[in-house]
Amino acid sequence: MKLVGFLTLLIFTGFAQAADVEPIKNAGPYVPSPQSVVADMLRYAEVGPNDFLIDLGSGDGRIVLTAAKLFGTRGFGVEIKENLVRRANEAAHKEGLADRVKFVKQDLFKTDISKATVITMYLLPDTVNLLKDKFLTELRPGTRIVSHDYPLTGWIPEKYVQMDLEDKIQISGVTTTLIYLYVVPAKVAGRWNAQMPPAVSRQPATLRLRQQMTRVSGSVVLDGEEVPLEDVKLRGDRLSFKLAGRKGEFTGQVKGSSIEGTLDAGGTKTPWSAALSG
Ligand SMILES: C[S@@+](CC[C@H](N)C(=O)[O-])C[C@H]1O[C@@H](n2cnc3c(N)ncnc32)[C@H](O)[C@@H]1O
Repeated sequence: MKLVGFLTLLIFTGFAQAADVEPIKNAGPYVPSPQSVVADMLRYAEVGPNDFLIDLGSGDGRIVLTAAKLFGTRGFGVEIKENLVRRANEAAHKEGLADRVKFVKQDLFKTDISKATVITMYLLPDTVNLLKDKFLTELRPGTRIVSHDYPLTGWIPEKYVQMDLEDKIQISGVTTTLIYLYVVPAKVAGRWNAQMPPAVSRQPATLRLRQQMTRVSGSVVLDGEEVPLEDVKLRGDRLSFKLAGRKGEFTGQVKGSSIEGTLDAGGTKTPWSAALSG
């Protein structure tokens, strides 16, 4: 009987493994985020009822389920393990959340993530970094990305929190826990034909922006004079900067190949705009 039991287990395990998805890359073993970390990840991302959250490598579904339960968030999780996908979908039905969330057996590298307003992940460090191009290509500016423990190298986090958690000893052997929050930047690099407020210039100006992920620098050519930009900030599609040696702050919203905004100089607001020229 023991042998039969063992063979049954082998066959069952064989079936279970055959039913799992063979991914382009295994992004890490199943290790659930402690529930307190899940709560912090959702809180830092300011997840709400209008968000669509995708958890990459969703395990038992706890991040997506918690967001739906606490904040009414919609979304889905992708996971390669058949048994975890089943368990997460069963939990969604049991908790009355199946109209808002679902779990799909799929390789995260092949998943269309363009609907997301929030991405969550607890994956191996090299995988997190392999995803950077996918994030920039598929996600809209302003989408929040929350990563448990591992950073997107070269991206400046919007928030970064470090804490000690006893629960993590079993998982990683240390208590250190990190949460990184990023906001996907709009693409602003290039030459822009700018129409500045009359107090700045009555001539068309040229705005030159250089960009490395969330870091932006540049200058504006005003009446033939090149003026460097200072305090340049880009959060999602919101750009702000100052002109060196001049008063006032420019803010603007990037909408693909145009920017529209205002210059606030001592409380007086005047519009400015720019169109991408190359
Ligand atoms: C560390 S667990 C995180 C689970 C869950 N997100 C959480 O924080 O509790 C990582 C999960 O990713 C899954 N996984 C690994 N590679 C994957 C891939 N290429 N596509 C989808 N899921 C993957 C694993 O099976 C595992 O369940």
